[in-house]
Amino acid sequence: MTVDEDPHLERVDLLISGAAEVATPLGAHALSGSKLDACQVREGWGVAISADRIVSVGPTADLRRVYRPVLEYDAKGGTIVPGFVDAHTHPVFAGTREDEFEMRTKGATYVEISLSGGGILSTVRGVRKASREVLLMQLLGRMDRFLELGTTTVEAKSGYGLSTEDELKMLGVIAEANRMHPVDLVPTFLGAHEFPEEYRDRRGDYVDLLVKEMLPRIAEEGLAEYCDIFTESHVFGLDDSRRILTQAKGLGFRLRLHVDQLTPLGGAELAAEFGADSADHLECVTDKGIEALGEAGVVPVICPLVALYLRQKQEVPGRRMIDAGLAPAIATDFNPGSCYTQSMPEVMTWSALRMNMTAGEVLTAGTLNAAASLNRAGDIGSLEPGKRADVLILDVPNHRHLAYELGRNPVRVVVKNGRVVHERTDFQFRA
Ligand code: NIG
Ligand code: FE
Repeated sequence: MTVDEDPHLERVDLLISGAAEVATPLGAHALSGSKLDACQVREGWGVAISADRIVSVGPTADLRRVYRPVLEYDAKGGTIVPGFVDAHTHPVFAGTREDEFEMRTKGATYVEISLSGGGILSTVRGVRKASREVLLMQLLGRMDRFLELGTTTVEAKSGYGLSTEDELKMLGVIAEANRMHPVDLVPTFLGAHEFPEEYRDRRGDYVDLLVKEMLPRIAEEGLAEYCDIFTESHVFGLDDSRRILTQAKGLGFRLRLHVDQLTPLGGAELAAEFGADSADHLECVTDKGIEALGEAGVVPVICPLVALYLRQKQEVPGRRMIDAGLAPAIATDFNPGSCYTQSMPEVMTWSALRMNMTAGEVLTAGTLNAAASLNRAGDIGSLEPGKRADVLILDVPNHRHLAYELGRNPVRVVVKNGRVVHERTDFQFRA
């Protein structure tokens, strides 16, 4: 009797074999402190998949004894890891801002550029002018790039519309792209990103508009899971933020916040007070803020490339947060102003170099903890039976190589929801 006919073997759709290593964090919750580093790393293991779910992860020989795959995929000595989860991005925009990048290389600061009408507002002008179709086409192109770079779930913010109509346009585009593309988008309403030009002299009225019109409308149309705010002294201070958060929470939004990026305003404490799923940026967070995040179980989302992009001296105290027992995620903060990259591998290298994080820590922070910050740790973020089959084959000999190598895309194959959706056959790692 051949393997194909053996009735004792359970049929699975896909068996990934031939890997040098399978590396994954484990669990359905964010991992904190010393547990952040505790990835399971196994040589010669494989992954069995049926429909969109992982069935089993184990020694390849054992998997072959139990399962009869419709397709066996040879990882050819690569490394298998979970699909990356990017927990902080602004991927819907029209036009780019290389002029501001150059101004910063000559010494201008991000806030100076913003206050002179550039920054976020220049992208707002671009988005307001752009049609839904153009925004959708560009977003889909960026989603292709996320996929090529191994990111299978992306948090996607609005926040370049800043009027009810334009914010709805952005969130509508995110919803449409989500239906059309294998990458999963998690929609976040960020109407409180900046004060639009027409409200510059009557900021209170814009907060009224957010609270009384935009949030109820977006809740009614079910267009966002999360509400986010750029809480910072030159934009939405603590009082404005509190008003918006109270309404958003009341309407059923989950919360994530841009906090303590440029000044130590106490945004981390605010995120803790409101039970946000994540507090993002945190370059200037205080010890008190770190303590508050820890006590409230908020996931700090570190975007290590932003300080580099903004040429900001303060860097996120990532190591201090881990040593204090927090459970950080890492993210790109992909946007046209403060960080123009979509690459989680790049973020991993920078997290290792600037936050003193280990290979295991950056892998957990860019998968399971990022998933936890999006309320999805039960479904994605690790390679375990029952989880969604979002799996990467990397063209590297072990998971430690992932953070180590800078500037090459190591992603060879992407499996999303159990299907091979991206595949490069033209390269294989050579030392
Ligand atoms: O996360 N900090 C505020 N918002 C974005 C930047 C957006 C922009 O400059 O267009 C950020 O860095
Ligand atoms: Fe951001």
